[in-house]
Amino acid sequence: MAVAAAQKNREMFAIKKSYSIENGYPSRRRSLVDDARFETLVVKQTKQSVLEEARARANDYTLTEEEVILQNAASESPEAEQAIQKAALLLRMRDGMGSLARILKTIDNYKGCVEHLETRPSQASGIQFDALVKVSMTRSNLLQLIRSLRQSTAFAGVNLLSDNISSKTPWFPRHASDLDNCNHLMTKFEPELDMNHPGFADKQYRERRKEIAEIAFAYKYGDSIPSITYTEVENSTWQRVFNTVLELMPKHACKEYKAAFGKLQEADIFVPHRIPQLDDVSNFLRKHTGFTLRPAAGLLTARDFLASLAFRVFQSTQYVRHNNSPFHTPEPDCIHELLGHIPLLADPNFAQFSQEIGLASLGASDSEIEKLSTVYWFTVEFGLCKENQQLKAYGAALLSSIGELLHALSDKPELRPFEPASTSLQPYQDQEYQPIYYVAESFDDAKDKFRRWVSTMSRPFEVRFNPHTERVEVLDSVEKLDTLIWQLNTEMLHLTNAVNKLRGSRFE
Ligand SMILES: [Fe+2]
Repeated sequence: MAVAAAQKNREMFAIKKSYSIENGYPSRRRSLVDDARFETLVVKQTKQSVLEEARARANDYTLTEEEVILQNAASESPEAEQAIQKAALLLRMRDGMGSLARILKTIDNYKGCVEHLETRPSQASGIQFDALVKVSMTRSNLLQLIRSLRQSTAFAGVNLLSDNISSKTPWFPRHASDLDNCNHLMTKFEPELDMNHPGFADKQYRERRKEIAEIAFAYKYGDSIPSITYTEVENSTWQRVFNTVLELMPKHACKEYKAAFGKLQEADIFVPHRIPQLDDVSNFLRKHTGFTLRPAAGLLTARDFLASLAFRVFQSTQYVRHNNSPFHTPEPDCIHELLGHIPLLADPNFAQFSQEIGLASLGASDSEIEKLSTVYWFTVEFGLCKENQQLKAYGAALLSSIGELLHALSDKPELRPFEPASTSLQPYQDQEYQPIYYVAESFDDAKDKFRRWVSTMSRPFEVRFNPHTERVEVLDSVEKLDTLIWQLNTEMLHLTNAVNKLRGSRFE
């Protein structure tokens, strides 16, 4: 019920705009960080216009966001209107404790039950006391109670606090199948809006890109990913980039990338003359780290993209960059996903790091999504790491772009140690190469630092992914913790048995 209401709120305040010239495009390179910022802005604007509409409809210009959400929940059905709602009200009392009797009488009139009451001297001028009252009553009566109290001159303010109507935590997917709802695009198909897009003047290219994107729109959880018969031109674009990566990889890529790349070659998935099919890649990843792919029609909202990582699902585009520009693409395409992201998603440590970013994003605030996207940008896309005192690349945008790779490893940019608290606030460069890169000691070290930083975020609950059910569990009850302890005990038993057997075999 709470999930349904939260989902409805999400829809109510959903992004109704897509990227446009007003966001600085077409001149900017698209990125997850920029998307997150745009999302924050649009959600704020959309909320404001939804509020203004609701206030005009109700002819009540004092309505708050919480009240609009409450009204919305009450208007679902006659049953929803009569459902019992717990709520907290903050009342600013002008005339001292005498007003308490009025509050209690009014709550009683609306058949409400007072569950908690506390007062304290107010810090606001002209107000004697603030009262916090927790009540439970039907939604329709609660709305009337608020209106009635507001009409009294005894109160300088009557506020419904949002915590008690479950509106603070943004909706997030609980099961891998919920990712069917996480395909919100920040952009429609827009090369025609972007004069700098290599496909801007090529109608045939735009139609082909659209045809491939349709597959993603139709895709549902559990489907296998349809194959694409790539054209000779598309395969030759792949081949040019593939051969360059092959040449630069031995010297500049981290060892985990090289190892996984080799396995993809052995599996006959990475070959020079043919673009790999996403379904084959997805099956390969499943065997190595449990990651799978979902086709994406373009750049998704940061929240949706990060949420999918929590389920070990990587949303991948399937179309190919324009053949006039094989070494640069202003948006992600399948060459970037395949050569940049896929090898490391087959590495257990890196896969875990990616999933941690995804899990941290579930239910995070808009500003936290911006910070997580910035961390993603400087690690998964542009990250460098140390290997035997040498600098290596692990970021997908580096490994799939020769120019930026060589720049990152030259003496031109500034290198800083990866520290999530400062990295998450670092403005990034989206016009030229990055002037700053962050260096991780190792994936393990990056994971540890990231975990410590994430624990300082505002979300009031912890989540974990259950791979058996493909479900994200919110650890918010003793029963759920009991289940987790039971599972950990089973794992500990296997570990203890294994240690004992190894010890025993050493003395035989
Ligand atoms: Fe990427």
